[in-house]
Amino acid sequence: MTHSATASQWSSRIGFILASAGSAIGLGAIWKFPYWAGANGGAAFILPYVLFTFTVGVALVMAETAIGRLGRGCAAVSMGRAGGPVFALTGAAAVFTAFLILSYYAVVGGWCVSYLLDAIAGQAVSADAVTLRERFGDLVETGGRSVVWLFVFLLMTCGTVIFGVERGIERLSRILMPALFVLMLCLTVRSLTLPGAAAGVEYLLHFSPEDLTPEAILNAMGYTFFSLSLGAGILVTYGAYLPRETRIPGASMWVAALSVQASLLAGLTIMPAVFAFGLAPDAGPGLVFVTIPLVFSQLPLGGLLAALFYVCLVVVALTSSVSLLEVVVAHMTGRWHLSRRRAVVAAFAALFAAGCVPALSFGPWSDWRIFGRTAFDFLDFVCSNLLMPAGGLAVALLAGRSAWPAVAAELSSPACRPGTIAVVRVLLRRLAPVLVAVACLQSLLG
Ligand code: TRP
Repeated sequence: MTHSATASQWSSRIGFILASAGSAIGLGAIWKFPYWAGANGGAAFILPYVLFTFTVGVALVMAETAIGRLGRGCAAVSMGRAGGPVFALTGAAAVFTAFLILSYYAVVGGWCVSYLLDAIAGQAVSADAVTLRERFGDLVETGGRSVVWLFVFLLMTCGTVIFGVERGIERLSRILMPALFVLMLCLTVRSLTLPGAAAGVEYLLHFSPEDLTPEAILNAMGYTFFSLSLGAGILVTYGAYLPRETRIPGASMWVAALSVQASLLAGLTIMPAVFAFGLAPDAGPGLVFVTIPLVFSQLPLGGLLAALFYVCLVVVALTSSVSLLEVVVAHMTGRWHLSRRRAVVAAFAALFAAGCVPALSFGPWSDWRIFGRTAFDFLDFVCSNLLMPAGGLAVALLAGRSAWPAVAAELSSPACRPGTIAVVRVLLRRLAPVLVAVACLQSLLG
């Protein structure tokens, strides 16, 4: 076992925060959050989501990061060092989870790149819903085009990770994350100032106590996990590159706060715009590819706004996939002793091969079903509902119980308020395992 993964470090605290926020803020925030929040009762979804994020979510972010900095290796090595062979195995499972997530996440990333190029060429927006639907169908269902864009998107991801932690991932995040914030803010202001925008805000934020169903709460829990990139070894891997002098609790709070802010901004951009033009808010996955271009076609400078919007989508998709790839590459360099360059090339080949399956599952292979789902939906279900919660459970058990003394020491170096450690302990020991187990069971049975 080498320590090659440990040679890399973030140049500073802010580097870690931006890269981790880059991982957290992804297609989840822009593509999933707005329609999920709407469909699950607005504030009845958002309140538990914010509550989970700042309790169990942030505690798990701290736990993963602390385990990473303790172990200074890939997810499997760090978890093994903290808790022995069983946890090394759960760490390896997390690496596999990251690989699987990336194989379908990159498919959607490829669509985003394709739409961005269309938008730059002035072809993304149209006032005709049928044309837009056909265009999306063409891209997704012909198969061949989806595979080409998957290839391009994976090249972009690998092209970043090959430069390493500081020169690749950190530099990308330092440039793109602030730019993303400014762009999203502009789009939010534009959307909120449209006539009729208030109906969208109302749809997103309305609160009726009867909407607070167990299902909405569990969905909020699942979204918290996905949006903080928990349970796939991301923060364990990123934590291994964290300088000693960084306070983990403070940095973790920043990551959680940035992630919540991005989801809320995305919701407050998309829903007001959709309502202002009387469109359907529950178009699901097609929302950002069909509904949004329709919205832009109605606005002055719509083509430009559309290009900015798809820049945002590509940025969030890229910084998230980079984090997923780093988990895999850190494992290949640390465990299998490959050079970073070889690891990236091998990962590229494997991911492209694996990604073709979900990419083709919208078109030529759509008849091939696994437990009644297409390959894409099946992968998403297995990762989001089973593997990630299981990974989160492993982290909670490891950090809260088996390795608590070491984790507590890591969290309090450099010194933080003792109260923080006591609260994190209760969250990791008592609340996290129960909540995650319930969420797992519900998704299995439901
Ligand atoms: N958090 C990202 C999003 O919201 C997705 C993501 C990146 C992710 N890495 C992850 C999800 C690891 C789960 C685990 O889109």
